[in-house]
Amino acid sequence: MRIDLMAGMSTGAAARSVAAPPTILVFDSGLGGLTVLEQVRRGRPDAAYVYAADDAAFPYGRLSEPVLVERVLGVMERLIGLHAPDLVVVACNTASTLVLPALRQRFTTPFVGVVPPIKPAAEATRSRVISLLATPGTVARAYTHDLIETYASACAVTLVGAPNLAGFAEAELAGMPVDDVALAREIAPCFVTLPDGRRTDVVCLACTHYPLLLARFQALAPWPVRWIDPAPAIARRVTQLLGPGDRNGPDAAPVLGAFTGGTGLTGPLRHSLAARGIASVAVEAMPLGLQ
Ligand code: DGL
Repeated sequence: MRIDLMAGMSTGAAARSVAAPPTILVFDSGLGGLTVLEQVRRGRPDAAYVYAADDAAFPYGRLSEPVLVERVLGVMERLIGLHAPDLVVVACNTASTLVLPALRQRFTTPFVGVVPPIKPAAEATRSRVISLLATPGTVARAYTHDLIETYASACAVTLVGAPNLAGFAEAELAGMPVDDVALAREIAPCFVTLPDGRRTDVVCLACTHYPLLLARFQALAPWPVRWIDPAPAIARRVTQLLGPGDRNGPDAAPVLGAFTGGTGLTGPLRHSLAARGIASVAVEAMPLGLQ
């Protein structure tokens, strides 16, 4: 693919002319990035896609910051070498809130990250009581705290670092859903009533795994709230950077799956992946600690 930048425009905001369908690599620690892949494919159905899951290191939410930075740089080096993508979507809040500057410094490939949707949540709330549901890693990040200070200083924000939810979402996709009690326990701290009676009306889905469980969250919520998934905005950003492509072109090729572990690739999970357009999966073993 060729990307032409218009004279005088910076890389990020440039208008581009596209000569051939791009290859887009969507990356996550596991299966959460599938929720982003789905939206990005809607925007650019003509593109070639690689869905890369660093499942050997899953879950990222438990890794220390220095370990996570080294891990993502190492895995990305391998993935970029193998697939030469035109653009990478880091479909993981836990990684994006930490590693994007290092990725941009190391590689020339453009990166689009997924970060907690604090700004749209602050715009959507009426009660000014919002919650951020994320991994323990994401709620601890300085980046997340800066976003809150910048966009939601007028709101009461509850940070909920759910230790098990990403794993629950993976189990759901593999056909082994956890029970309602376990799920309700993880989301319960999101629902807050202040002494003045105002209560949470918006919850940010700040981990890409969580939209996989959205229907169950809605059923288990003690009262209705608006759940904000940043994936559609990410897809718009990708289309803005790469251009709209040819919507009348030939059908897109199946997505190639690339896993670093592969131990969880059971029959039911492969079936779920195939239903999401990932018909073939390659395992490039990369155990945690060996990057
Ligand atoms: N899907 C990831 C995120 O958006 C992380 C899940 C994990 O590996 O802990 O944060």
